[in-house]
Amino acid sequence: MKKNPFYLKEIPVDAPFCDREKELADLISYAKSNINVVLFSPRRYGKTSLTKRVQNSLKSDGNLTAYCDLFGVTSVEEIAGRIARSIYAVTHKNQGMFQKAIGFITSFRPVLSPSPEGGISVSVQTAFKTDGLKILEDTMESLEKFIIDVALPVHVAFDEFQEIAEVHNSIGIEGILRQYIQKIQCSFFFIGSRRRILLDIFNDRKRPFFQSSLNYELKPLPHKDMVLFITSEFKSAGKYINEDDASKICQLVSNHPYYMQKFCFFLYEEIDKEVTQKDIAEIKAIVVESERVVFESILQGLRTKQINILSALAKEPTAKIYSASYMARHNLGSTGGIQQGLSTLSKKDLIEKDYRTGTWSVVDPIFVCWLIQMSL
Ligand SMILES: Nc1ncnc2c1ncn2[C@@H]1O[C@H](COP(=O)(O)OP(=O)(O)OP(=O)(O)O)[C@@H](O)[C@H]1O
Ligand SMILES: [Mg+2]
Repeated sequence: MKKNPFYLKEIPVDAPFCDREKELADLISYAKSNINVVLFSPRRYGKTSLTKRVQNSLKSDGNLTAYCDLFGVTSVEEIAGRIARSIYAVTHKNQGMFQKAIGFITSFRPVLSPSPEGGISVSVQTAFKTDGLKILEDTMESLEKFIIDVALPVHVAFDEFQEIAEVHNSIGIEGILRQYIQKIQCSFFFIGSRRRILLDIFNDRKRPFFQSSLNYELKPLPHKDMVLFITSEFKSAGKYINEDDASKICQLVSNHPYYMQKFCFFLYEEIDKEVTQKDIAEIKAIVVESERVVFESILQGLRTKQINILSALAKEPTAKIYSASYMARHNLGSTGGIQQGLSTLSKKDLIEKDYRTGTWSVVDPIFVCWLIQMSL
């Protein structure tokens, strides 16, 4: 039997990828022109996988590419450590370059150890005791010196960049990062899905990163390309789905890349040879159920009034949330309460407003299915 061509886990960089040709070309071209980019979208639209492909292409053109994941950072020391680690991770296979990195990055020493997957895992330990912002400043200064010395085009991706805004003294941290990023001759990508927090870092005139980078939004995949991707992946792996059914899946997941992969992964496992309508209904229920724990924990962090708004927007997206009939239909209470609820829910990126039509809706398409199903 052939291997399931869809992915539940992170998609490998050489696996078939749907569309994103223009985005790939744009981002490679920005990177080569030393332009800094804020790459944003709702969760799991493919920012990380696209960035890895951008870096792969840059690497094959002789660039040095560092990938620094800031997910879960809790202190300035940790941010500095992750930056140092990303440089060691990309240089450790090249003796000459690794020695250079060690020479410049005096605040952190690399620690190489065998990884469970059989490769080498790179971590860092502090070389000497400095506290707070000074260690970040030292690390950024060494990054600058290293990049000058290495004399190659360099690309640095900061994934989950918005996390720095949650760390103590975040404005101080932003100030130092901005100061060096402005000086260093390379391209930086700042990637994140908490769009409100991320964009505030770059679009608030009182903050250090104000207007320092180009905003680049990743949209859902185009419907036509997604249909073609699904039908051809099924075919190449020895099973069959017709275009109408593939199109139905795209609609169910609102052209969301991750949910498309998940849906099709389960579907491919389930069927013998050919997809039927009944299979699609069954898999929809499985996909919704697979996210239940996540959705329940989201609701646990919300107040009843906020849940009411979320549920109303899942059932009926609207540009007229304050109309008396909408408020009454969904039991939304006072105008002030709605205003506050909309603000909290959009800060959490659970809902969004389409600025063209003014329509409020729930961001995650499977969350929508679950909320409707629960009739909360
Ligand atoms: N263009 C694409 N073609 C096929 N699958 C894709 C594509 N883009 C994303 N995916 C699927 O979606 C998954 C999630 O993508 P990825 O982790 O890159 O998203 P993300 O935007 O970085 O998510 P997060 O916001 O959670 O960090 C991938 O592992 C892959 O299975
Ligand atoms: Mg990501």
